Amino acid sequence: MDGLIEKAAQAVLGSKLTLALTGAGISVESGIPDFRSKGGLWDRYDPEEYASIYSFQKNPEKVWLMLREMEEIVDKARPNAAHIGLAELEHMGLLRSVITQNVDNLHQEAGSKDVIEYHGNSRSLTCLWCNRHYDYTEKKGEYPPYCACGKILKPDVVFFGEAIPIEAMTRSYQLASICQALLIIGTSAVVSPFNVLPRQAKQAGATIIEINLEKTVLSDHITDILLQGKATEMVSKLVSAAKKIKGL
Ligand code: OAD
Repeated sequence: MDGLIEKAAQAVLGSKLTLALTGAGISVESGIPDFRSKGGLWDRYDPEEYASIYSFQKNPEKVWLMLREMEEIVDKARPNAAHIGLAELEHMGLLRSVITQNVDNLHQEAGSKDVIEYHGNSRSLTCLWCNRHYDYTEKKGEYPPYCACGKILKPDVVFFGEAIPIEAMTRSYQLASICQALLIIGTSAVVSPFNVLPRQAKQAGATIIEINLEKTVLSDHITDILLQGKATEMVSKLVSAAKKIKGL
């Protein structure tokens, strides 16, 4: 493993533009379960019934049962060593941006400045009927939260059947097309269109470094360096190796 860590650190140090793509797995060690692992959110809630925009429009009270559980878990979570390690890489000038599918705000709390939120953020809410916007602190503890117009509010996270925020999608695609190293951390990479980004970076000639507990659909065909293990451990080792090579 040490040889692979060293190789990954060399790739990051030699790259003019490095990106990190993250998924639910990076926040598991902060206490937030992922979606598709055993015991994950989609084991207990059918995403068709709870995570599509059509189910929200049909029965928002029911969808808020899941959203309430998520919100209570996310409220207690704090950034872990993997979030902090990525913020450190950005601070050292070794990482341009984090592109995340997560809506938990933990990258920002860890100190990352350039975070592209591909699936939105749970910290604000919008009324689908009158388009009023609210910060989540205004509605904290209200389940379900209501708009002044009397309708139930939706958090600004992307539900299945909704479009990816256009700026996040465009910027991610542009960056992936020119990056030279790509870290992919804690994602099963099965959700589209996010999973186009690793392929885009590969086509651009980037070195693909994957950190995951398990092999994914990317591991055998797209990934160049697989660091199989916990995100906290692998990111910390990568940051330490990069510092050592730089003499820091
Ligand atoms: P998944 O639950 O599909 O995948 C999580 C990945 O993280 C798996 O490959 C795990 O092996 C890995 N993992 C778990 N714990 C880990 C740890 N401690 N260290 C390293 N890896 C670990 O989650 P995502 O890929 O993020 O979208 O799912 C993508 C999207 O599907 C989510 O953004 C959400 C969901 O439906 C929407 O709701 C639109």
